[in-house]
Amino acid sequence: MENIIFKTSNNNDTIAVCSFDELIELEFAGLEKQISSQEITDIKSFSNENFRRQKMAGRVLLNNLLGKAGKIEYNQHGKPLIKSHPLDISFSHCKDKVAVMLSKKIAGIDIQDISLKIRRIVHKFLNEPELKSIKEETFETHATIYWCAKEALYKAYGERQLIFTDNIVIEPFSFIPEGGKFHGSIVLENSKKDFVLNYKLTGIFALVYIWNE
Ligand SMILES: CC(C)(COP(=O)(O)OP(=O)(O)OC[C@H]1O[C@@H](n2cnc3c(N)ncnc32)[C@H](O)[C@@H]1OP(=O)(O)O)[C@@H](O)C(=O)NCCC(=O)NCCS
Repeated sequence: MENIIFKTSNNNDTIAVCSFDELIELEFAGLEKQISSQEITDIKSFSNENFRRQKMAGRVLLNNLLGKAGKIEYNQHGKPLIKSHPLDISFSHCKDKVAVMLSKKIAGIDIQDISLKIRRIVHKFLNEPELKSIKEETFETHATIYWCAKEALYKAYGERQLIFTDNIVIEPFSFIPEGGKFHGSIVLENSKKDFVLNYKLTGIFALVYIWNE
């Protein structure tokens, strides 16, 4: 079953996170009349149990937010698109959590658990000013928020070939446990697009989403 643990919205965006258990498979079965048989076959074909459940939970949460069935298609890079709704959409999953963002403008969301492992890879995705803004006491959490922000912007852009250190740039910010707002940009050779992002901690998870207020 799904259980919404976080929900927020503004005039353009709706964001929700739910936790789910193995009963999500039953709940998903209840949607079978609404979702196309091709989509059902695709989702059920994942042999990794948790991955399959994560995708199912995403669909259950999406339909819950829309109040009706949303048919999802993917572009050639894997970016999800909702057919017949003028909304941008973004999904993220981690362990037993799934996050969905719907936006009248642009959607990008990411949820990750906070792990010590991030230390080993931090130089691969953070540039010098971003790295310098992280204090030792809150290193893993702060670095995970940066990572989520870059993944959320990557999903908003929706195409491959973005270098995380150079093309996705976050304005260095101070971490506070209550969460907050910060800024990020997608910087390409001839363009720069700026975004406002929000972060929030829910237990061991960091959540970051674009905020199009
Ligand atoms: C695609 C990617 C963003 C997914 O992130 P993840 O942390 O593995 O997984 P998440 O659960 O957060 O997100 C999965 C969702 O991403 C979405 N997604 C996949 N490709 C996408 C794309 N090109 N654009 C937008 N969204 C995309 C899908 O909706 C998917 O959920 P679904 O299968 O249920 O529909 C990630 O695998 C990736 O490729 N990141 C870029 C890595 C990179 O270039 N790193 C270089 C610096 S180290």
